[in-house]
Amino acid sequence: FYQVSTKSTKAKVPSTLWGLFFEDINRAADGGVYAEMVENRSFDFPKPLTAWSTWPSPQLRDGIFMVVNQIATNAANPKYMQVDLRARDTVGLINTGFDEGMSFKKGLPYNLTLRYRQQTPGIHVRIFLFSGNNKILARTEMTPDNDAKDWHSQEVSITPIDTATRGKLLVIFEGSGKLDVDRISLFPSDTWKNRKGGLRADLVQKLADLKPGFLRFPGGCIVEGNQLVHRYQWKHTIGPLENREMVQSIWADDVPDRQTPDYMESFGLGFYEYFQLAEDIGAAPLPIINVGMSCQFDAAEVVPINELEPFITDALDLIEFANGSTSTYWGKKRAELGHPAPFNLKLLGIGNENWGPQYAERLKLFTDRIKAKYPEIRLINATGYSRNIPVFTYMDSVLRARKADIIDEHFYDTPKWFMDNANRYDSYDRKGPKIFVGEYAAQSDRIGSMKNVNNLLTALSEACFMTGIERNADVVDMASYAPLFAHVTGWQWTPNLIWFDNSTSYNTPNYYVQQLFSLNRGTDVVPLTKDGKAICGQDSCWASAVVDKNTRELVIKMVNMSSKPKARQIRLTNTTAAGEASWISLANGSTGIMNSITNPDNIKPDTKTITANGKEVSFTAAPFSFNVIKVKLK
Ligand code: AHR
Repeated sequence: FYQVSTKSTKAKVPSTLWGLFFEDINRAADGGVYAEMVENRSFDFPKPLTAWSTWPSPQLRDGIFMVVNQIATNAANPKYMQVDLRARDTVGLINTGFDEGMSFKKGLPYNLTLRYRQQTPGIHVRIFLFSGNNKILARTEMTPDNDAKDWHSQEVSITPIDTATRGKLLVIFEGSGKLDVDRISLFPSDTWKNRKGGLRADLVQKLADLKPGFLRFPGGCIVEGNQLVHRYQWKHTIGPLENREMVQSIWADDVPDRQTPDYMESFGLGFYEYFQLAEDIGAAPLPIINVGMSCQFDAAEVVPINELEPFITDALDLIEFANGSTSTYWGKKRAELGHPAPFNLKLLGIGNENWGPQYAERLKLFTDRIKAKYPEIRLINATGYSRNIPVFTYMDSVLRARKADIIDEHFYDTPKWFMDNANRYDSYDRKGPKIFVGEYAAQSDRIGSMKNVNNLLTALSEACFMTGIERNADVVDMASYAPLFAHVTGWQWTPNLIWFDNSTSYNTPNYYVQQLFSLNRGTDVVPLTKDGKAICGQDSCWASAVVDKNTRELVIKMVNMSSKPKARQIRLTNTTAAGEASWISLANGSTGIMNSITNPDNIKPDTKTITANGKEVSFTAAPFSFNVIKVKLK
């Protein structure tokens, strides 16, 4: 039997304990959560006709369609398409969308926006949506404003008569005249909270359903970039879309066997939208800022110390953007974007997976300046990649000597590693820095391999590790699985928490483990023991317990990693069960089971009610199962 005492609270459960890591990898943002359906909508990709073709014949491009490069005068928005019709022509541009093509829903209005300026009026525009087998699903038209001598956006709604996948958009230009087209954009109208140009509601709902304690953004390696010019610069991601300078993603060229060369970051999902998303889903915002270093897995570039000032200024300005009153410069900008109230930023990450003396030196400069102005902001410090022990050990000792607020540790390892390391935090210094397990995921194969899958085994091993996090919630403040999202045909990394295509998505068993921990977070950690010891691998079981003082519940989380059922009695001291308990179980019998687009519910949690009277609660955990027992207390 297991013994649980609800009197001796071991730790308060931080509200941030279970959160989210968001990075635009695997098309998580562009081609994913960001609901834009047109790839390369502004012709700013390195190859400006990426995802576009001309209609009716490719040759028509010459002289009629010309991409104008204005980089000398407009670096943020260097290219636009000039359509030059001289002889009452009828020509068009086809966009095939991201990856496997556009998905349309029957009867749902879509908003098509054209950003243009007139050179010589006289061109009329017709718009068509096609299914994958070239059936016309919708048609509409637009007459550009003859007086639009300056850039001007015009919108038209278009509604398909059928549902389709692998579809496309055709924009026809006809007549005589010259029209500059800077952007052609198509969004569904059923975005999250019905925001125009917003996010995919089905995917955001999956995040909201995790009730995350925090949202870490925008990464990950994209914070650093493979070279500094490609780093994430938050000031380039707010305000009008045409001011958001595109960058080639580090994920376009850093994954040898899964290259997605057309992976550009449009920043349509930019920092204002990230803060808004965090607020929408009740998560504390946690931005990560570049520390003046590019990704160290490649040859890293560093900014000379005497040129670091703009990078530090970016960090200070970000805090003002998030929290400053509307009388400050950046607080006013936030208000102008639609959010006069502060975003209540309390956490800021300085660098991602950076390490070594170069990082330590730069981090100190950031820390001194930020703490002098904003002592209330808790700073998250990187340790490189924890599997690289010398790097990790060096950073850990530097950061502990400096009394860092929070240290960010990352783990991508085997299921066995996660089981064996569930006791990792038992021995951490209780008075030292707090820990952020900022990225972790169990690997069934090599990262990026198609055999590296989200199956029940990896999910259960993560659950084992998470019981160790929960038990040590006095040291571990925050934890997030990574990466969060992946497009089924547009990924660079495996495994991932949520998989999607252009119309639908599914939860992995790993998602359900995250959800069961987060939804049953409780308020206080209480000791759960067998023979006086924490349950951490004995008899192939891992377990932890919390109470929820608000709902008067005791919550036991228990993983059975053996192929045999395990009968367990939980003996309650200092408290009494009120009669009923619910038992949620994630199990199947086969550790290899997975979900997929076609079988999204192959494995999901199952809930039943059990009797729990007096001082004992009994249940039998199925082979290879994760169990959450919620006992109502008197
Ligand atoms: O989660 C994917 C990548 O793994 C992140 O971008 C990086 O921080 C880590 O190496």
